[in-house]
Formats: sequence, C-alpha cells, structure tokens
Amino acid sequence: MRTTALRNASLITAGLMAIMVLTFAWHRSEADTSEDISSLGAEIFNSRCAGCHPRDSVQGGFGPGLKNLAARGTLPVSDRPVNEANLLRQLNEPVGVMPSFKDMDAKSKSAVVDYLLKL
Ligand code: HEC
Repeated sequence: MRTTALRNASLITAGLMAIMVLTFAWHRSEADTSEDISSLGAEIFNSRCAGCHPRDSVQGGFGPGLKNLAARGTLPVSDRPVNEANLLRQLNEPVGVMPSFKDMDAKSKSAVVDYLLKL
C-alpha cells in the first residue's frame, strides 16, 4: 500500500516535471520565432534593399535613407503614413523607379516590413 502511494507520488512528480519542461520548451520556441522573424527581416533588407537604401541615415543612396522611418510618420517620397499596409504596398506596387517585390513570399515581405518599422 505504502509503495503504491510512493509510486503514485513519483509518477505525479514526473508528470509535473514533464509539463514544466514542455512549457519551457514552448516558450523558448515562441521566443525563437520572433527572433527568427527579425533576423529574416534583417537578412532580406541586407540582401535586397540595403544596396539602394541606407538604413542608418535619412540621406538617400539611390533610394531614400530609411533611418527612423516609423518615427518620421510619413514615407519619404509618397508622403503616405508609415504603416504596415503602406510599406507592403511599396513592395507590391512601388512608387517611382524602385523595382517591385511583388513576387517575394508573404512571410519575407512581412518580416522586412517589421524590420523597417524598427529602424
Ligand atoms: C534598385 C534600387 C532599390 C531597391 C533594391 C529597393 N528600393 Fe526602395 N526605393 C528606391 C527608390 C529609387 C525609391 C524612391 C522612388 C523614387 O523616388 O522614384 C524607393 C522608395 C522606397 C520607399 C519609400 C516609399 C514611399 O512611399 O515614399 C520605401 C519604404 C522603400 N523604397 C523600401 C524598400 C525595401 C523594403 C526594399 C527591399 C525589399 C527596397 N526598397 C528596395 C530604390 C530601391
């Protein structure tokens, strides 16, 4: 009888520990996901945008500098408000001579937009 109670107690302890480990792992994977998104955004910016757009200046390169874009409130050429929708629109139907990024996959577009909003 006593052994059964002990065994049950250790099963419960093992169960609780498993739940704790899983919860921890789940939180870690949540954190990794948002880190992945921002490193994906940075990666895309570096490879597809940085050649024309300085990120740490408001002065233009071939295209306008994008430093502090969100804080500036309006986009440098179109004067549209800086928000997710208008940045996506710039990728899909760019104003001016910028090439279109319409064919970029949705996850990459949203990662780079996220990145632009934190510059
Ligand atoms: C070949 C150069 C080039 C590349 C590559 C490029 N852009 Fe541009 N971009 C421009 C130019 C030039 C303009 C300004 C349009 C004009 O004046 O004709 C512009 C404008 C913009 C604007 C301002 C739009 C507005 O409404 O004022 C944003 C935001 C932007 N680009 C983001 C990006 C992002 C994000 C990428 C990468 C995915 C990118 N650009 C890639 C050249 C480029």
